[in-house]
Amino acid sequence: MAIGLASTDHFVLLTILICILVHDCSAGYDVESTDTSGKQMSAQLKLAGGTTEFGPDVKSLSLTASLETDSRLRVRITDADHQRWEVPQDAIPRPAAPGPEPKGVLLDSPGSASMPSHNTMSSPSSDLNFTIHTSPFRFTVSRRSTHDILFDTSANLVFKDRYLEVTSALPADRASLYGLGEQKKQTFRLQHNDSFTLWNEDVTWSDQLDLNLYGSHPFYMDVRSGGAAHGVLLLNSNGMDILYGGSHVTYKVIGGVLDFYFFAGPSPLAVVDQYTQLIGRPAPMPYWSFGFHQSRYGYKNVADLDGVVAGYAKAKIPLDAIWSDIDYMDNYQDFTLDPVNYPSKQLRPFVDRLHNNGQKYVVTVHPAIKRQAAPHEDLFLKRNGANLVGEAWPGEVYFLDFMNPRSTEYWARKISEFRRTIPVDGLWCDINEPSNFKDWQPLNALDDPPYRINNSGFHLPINYRTVPASTVHYNNVTEYDAHNLFGLLQAQATHAGLLRDTKRRPFVLTRSTFVGSGRYAAHWTGNNDARWDELARSINTILNFGLFGIPMMGADICGFNGNTTQELCSRWIQLGAFYPFARGHAEKTTLRRELYVWESTARSARKALEMRYRLLPYIYTLMYEAHTTGAPIVRPLFFSYPHDNNTYGVDRQFMLGRAVLVSPVLEPGAKTVEAYFPAGRWFNLYNQSVALTMKAGKRVTLPAPADLANAYLAGGNILLLQQAGLTTSAARQGDLHLLVALAENGTASGELFLDDGESPEMGGAGGNWTLVRFSCDREESKGTITTKVSSHVVRKSYAPTRAQVIDKVVIMGLQSPPKSFTIYVNNVELKAARTMSRTSGVFSVSGMALAIGEKFEIKLVMSH
Ligand SMILES: *[C@@H]1O[C@H](CO)[C@@H](O)[C@H](O)[C@H]1NC(C)=O
Ligand SMILES: *[C@@H]1O[C@H](CO)[C@@H](O)[C@H](O)[C@H]1NC(C)=O
Ligand SMILES: *[C@@H]1O[C@H](CO)[C@@H](O)[C@H](O)[C@H]1NC(C)=O
Ligand SMILES: *[C@@H]1O[C@H](CO)[C@@H](O)[C@H](O)[C@H]1NC(C)=O
Ligand SMILES: *[C@@H]1O[C@H](CO)[C@@H](O)[C@H](O)[C@H]1NC(C)=O
Ligand SMILES: *[C@@H]1O[C@H](CO)[C@@H](O)[C@H](O)[C@H]1NC(C)=O
Ligand SMILES: *[C@@H]1O[C@H](CO)[C@@H](O)[C@H](O)[C@H]1NC(C)=O
Ligand SMILES: *[C@@H]1O[C@H](CO)[C@@H](O)[C@H](O)[C@H]1NC(C)=O
Ligand SMILES: *[C@@H]1O[C@H](CO)[C@@H](O)[C@H](O)[C@H]1NC(C)=O
Repeated sequence: MAIGLASTDHFVLLTILICILVHDCSAGYDVESTDTSGKQMSAQLKLAGGTTEFGPDVKSLSLTASLETDSRLRVRITDADHQRWEVPQDAIPRPAAPGPEPKGVLLDSPGSASMPSHNTMSSPSSDLNFTIHTSPFRFTVSRRSTHDILFDTSANLVFKDRYLEVTSALPADRASLYGLGEQKKQTFRLQHNDSFTLWNEDVTWSDQLDLNLYGSHPFYMDVRSGGAAHGVLLLNSNGMDILYGGSHVTYKVIGGVLDFYFFAGPSPLAVVDQYTQLIGRPAPMPYWSFGFHQSRYGYKNVADLDGVVAGYAKAKIPLDAIWSDIDYMDNYQDFTLDPVNYPSKQLRPFVDRLHNNGQKYVVTVHPAIKRQAAPHEDLFLKRNGANLVGEAWPGEVYFLDFMNPRSTEYWARKISEFRRTIPVDGLWCDINEPSNFKDWQPLNALDDPPYRINNSGFHLPINYRTVPASTVHYNNVTEYDAHNLFGLLQAQATHAGLLRDTKRRPFVLTRSTFVGSGRYAAHWTGNNDARWDELARSINTILNFGLFGIPMMGADICGFNGNTTQELCSRWIQLGAFYPFARGHAEKTTLRRELYVWESTARSARKALEMRYRLLPYIYTLMYEAHTTGAPIVRPLFFSYPHDNNTYGVDRQFMLGRAVLVSPVLEPGAKTVEAYFPAGRWFNLYNQSVALTMKAGKRVTLPAPADLANAYLAGGNILLLQQAGLTTSAARQGDLHLLVALAENGTASGELFLDDGESPEMGGAGGNWTLVRFSCDREESKGTITTKVSSHVVRKSYAPTRAQVIDKVVIMGLQSPPKSFTIYVNNVELKAARTMSRTSGVFSVSGMALAIGEKFEIKLVMSH
């Protein structure tokens, strides 16, 4: 099988080569007519030649290219005569495709018998330029401002009922690609010859690289040397292989249409902004979900859960939420309780105690319903006219069809009913690829399409470990087309069900994802192994999901499968405390690894989580930024430093927002860690008297203390820190510290978002929330330097209801110690306690009591 495919690949490569050399391809189309009006071009394509492999070619295609916004170009190619499957609007609401275009009219060159060789559509307000080449058909997307060619298809387009293929050239030496997946990868930046299969799967071999995993995201970001970035989405839910060959990218898709979206950037942040504007902004997550979570498959009973919560309290390690995997269920059935180990008369008081203590409870739910207990309603996936009978944890099961409005209603009702018994605070949608343990005989051609995608790395049948492709959903939609949407639709239904019942901001964690899942849910890397290489790789996947619009992302801290070690677990919490979603979780047959089990791990956990909880005002503001602009919470370095091409390959470090650079230890026995620092000023987050100034980006060897990950603040940022606490609600009671890290030119800026942390909306028009922008600048006159920190209250509404005040202001990166200094708050000289470090340019003043919702100005006047 493998050999057969390799030779197919060579055949395809050879075809491409012939096409390029002689410009005459057996595959491919010619343009019959084009019609450009304003920001839209349509074209009719006619088959020229054709191939026999994988079925007959579609004879006539219709293409529309539209500049939907100045920064977004859509190019859609479909069968001109028959409707085909496309991702439904319910799943991803988006502007409708332009209507049917006039056919067969040669509009471009009246009076001339021949088509022009190419035709361009562009707009003075857009940086994207679309060009169609007519004979043979191909298209090009370029950047007007630089003439850089972003996407350049070759002439051998293939369009069949169950096989579509398109290739674009890329400049191998100037393009750095990121994204595509979900896949566990060795590096964050794509390597030449990386291949991706997009077919959601419950992975069997959790530690293997480069296999298709739980989610499908046919989106990449391309950063060209020099720093201009753009994004490319192929919006298609069918199974596909994508090959990134360095100098080209090839899509081989087994259905649907070619619906490409190009996002102009040019900054990486602009790309994710434009991308999430289309696919949906990341859901706001409740404030508590940024605390630490503990989970385990195999907690025995309520007393066991109680003991874990007590263990955290005793060790003084923060804990916001405790989770139950399938252990709480009666025979693995959703919305039931094990009558012996998790009876409601014990579990309910336990959950009430958690709530009284400001803590939360989250449980898992599965999409498969035990056959014998299933309601006699039309709610399930069907095959051959009857409910499909699969095999999952409860034994024989039916699968809920989340495309069916009756099923989503049923789901919402079950959530409400269950919450009357146990008021869970969030739901974890697991094994929703969906996973299935049974083998299937093919029923029809859908189960065995002509082109075999590289499922599980061995071209396994697409029915492997899931429901068969011939299964039918509501409205006659086939699993063949909709498979990759299952997790997205379940997350959508779960989010809606929780919202309806609680009227509060839902917390949903989903394993299976698709484009747009971030609107509803958080995600984690799934089953990982308690190994050092897995610790390092967690960064790649978390960075990827930031690009995919799912910023609330983490990996099982200390590892899921296999026994961990004290050192690995310590290093993992040091890193994991900076994951947007920080949860420990482990497999049943492993030794206990809660953070208090080993004293050295407990020490790391206290330090790392103390810093996390202190940083929550900043992290929560990043959530707001993600929700409003798509900006990932955890980001690759090139997001902040796109012009520094040394950052393009960095994936053993990352940034929390734009302010904090984290350089964790990823190897056993490390005494030092190699870290790259882009040009600028950097302040140690744990010890503000340690600072680095880089004239140019540079690798630095940092000490690697046993109980801390290196974290540095980038000069130019203003952050608010709060007090430490054992829960997020306790931590947000205390006073705030304003931390000003000056850039070399004496400026800095930052912002703070505040709300109650649980309103469904985050920052909506009529909502109860506060946004404050802080800025700092410097004025020099003879002998004195004035550093001015001021706040601008963009919206005040919420802040006055909180007693929180800014108690302390710390300014880092001042010039050498002054002869004397004076400090003014709102133009009144302040005589309060203050300290100024003699050596390191750190100034700090406390006892300020500045109200968050009130404008203020602090002036530090230093004479030298
Ligand atoms: C658009 O791209 C085409 C082909 O690359 C080029 O010939 C044309 O000059 C470009 N137009 C603009 C306005 O940049
Ligand atoms: C990628 O694959 C091609 C064709 O098989 C091969 O010639 C090339 O050396 C490979 N490149 C890398 C970087 O492995
Ligand atoms: C990286 O940037 C430097 C300086 O701008 C340039 O000289 C070098 O060619 C670039 N390297 C790559 C691989 O683009
Ligand atoms: C299929 O996937 C496996 C695992 O990633 C990979 O080794 C193999 O090269 C892939 N085959 C093709 C034809 O891409
Ligand atoms: C459902 O789809 C099948 C296969 O595509 C088709 O044969 C059948 O007529 C369709 N049924 C309905 C009710 O549309
Ligand atoms: C973990 O270690 C314990 C004790 O040595 C052993 O019983 C258990 O099988 C191990 N678990 C795994 C998954 O290796
Ligand atoms: C901070 O770093 C300085 C300089 O290395 C050192 O002298 C000091 O002891 C450190 N402070 C703490 C609290 O670690
Ligand atoms: C100061 O430096 C920062 C960071 O390098 C830069 O973003 C900012 O534009 C500069 N401001 C001024 C006024 O030069
Ligand atoms: C905002 O919410 C707080 C408590 O969450 C409440 O006390 C206050 O009245 C609300 N303010 C407005 C303007 O609705």
